[in-house]
Amino acid sequence: MNLTALGYCGIGSKNLDDWADYGTRFLGMQLVEKSRGALALRMDDRKQRVIIHSDEDEGPSFYGWEVADAAALDALAAHLEDAGVRVARGSPALADERRVKDLIVFSDPLGNRLEAFHGPEIANEPFKPGRAISGFRTGPLGMGHAVLTAERIDEVIPFYTKILNFKLSDYFEKPFRAYFFHINARHHSLAFIETGKNGIHHMMFETCYLDDVGQAYDLALAKPEMIGTTLGRHVNDHMTSFYSYSPSRFLIEYGWGGRSIDPATWTPQERTEGPSLWGHDRMWLSPEAREQARALAMKAAANGARVPVNVMEGNYLRAADVCPWWHANAPARKIG
Ligand SMILES: [Fe+2]
Repeated sequence: MNLTALGYCGIGSKNLDDWADYGTRFLGMQLVEKSRGALALRMDDRKQRVIIHSDEDEGPSFYGWEVADAAALDALAAHLEDAGVRVARGSPALADERRVKDLIVFSDPLGNRLEAFHGPEIANEPFKPGRAISGFRTGPLGMGHAVLTAERIDEVIPFYTKILNFKLSDYFEKPFRAYFFHINARHHSLAFIETGKNGIHHMMFETCYLDDVGQAYDLALAKPEMIGTTLGRHVNDHMTSFYSYSPSRFLIEYGWGGRSIDPATWTPQERTEGPSLWGHDRMWLSPEAREQARALAMKAAANGARVPVNVMEGNYLRAADVCPWWHANAPARKIG
């Protein structure tokens, strides 16, 4: 019955041409369908992951959460109904549109449209990135993460933890309230930030090579107004990333090197260092809030905050040399 990953998302936008350009030439996704009213983007072996519709308000319009199979979908529908959540069965036409076998549709307490599905269609042709990137890290981790905003996060979190069984990864109480949740080895597939407004903060897509992110950053530097947050590294999921404004004006985090967690042994904790080990200067903050954020980052640096890089099989070469003084001191040096 449990959700296994974030499988797809829908975004409403009047700027389909801008999305086609941003999705392919900047993010490196593959445009697979474009009509007058919609476009679909691939990220991997699946037929589609991101669907942009022109008939919706600007911003994310649905989140597609994956379950294992038909039995898990039926069990989830029954569980939601038992919990008093209204559930609609997706029509065959809708399942066809989503390129899945079957789905159900429901809403969270804030009115975000959620879909749960099983049986995503796999494409016959290999993924052809829209820009020469190595690819996206998806698989069992899903397509990335969604960070939503809420007027009062306490009103929505129990729905996700008690009914949908999301597990707390960690949380910040200062300088803002943010709670991060996992359903697989990705540190968070979902998070909520208390901003005083219900909506979307950002979606994150993770590439397989660090250079994919660096090269996107070069592209963004050519149009600096599109940068929402400078290059930096997060303390909790270890992601090296930057944020850019999508054509729908919400942020897209483009990252590399997220940590894998073991949900069976993970213990959530409060993080107090601020959101990042370095960088991530949030350009939209007031001068005072930026100063406060900078002070936190400086403190983290002064404390020597650091974590190892997280690599995937196939995207690193191990240096063959040894560094005697480093190894001699390694036991005394806290790594991680
Ligand atoms: Fe993020």
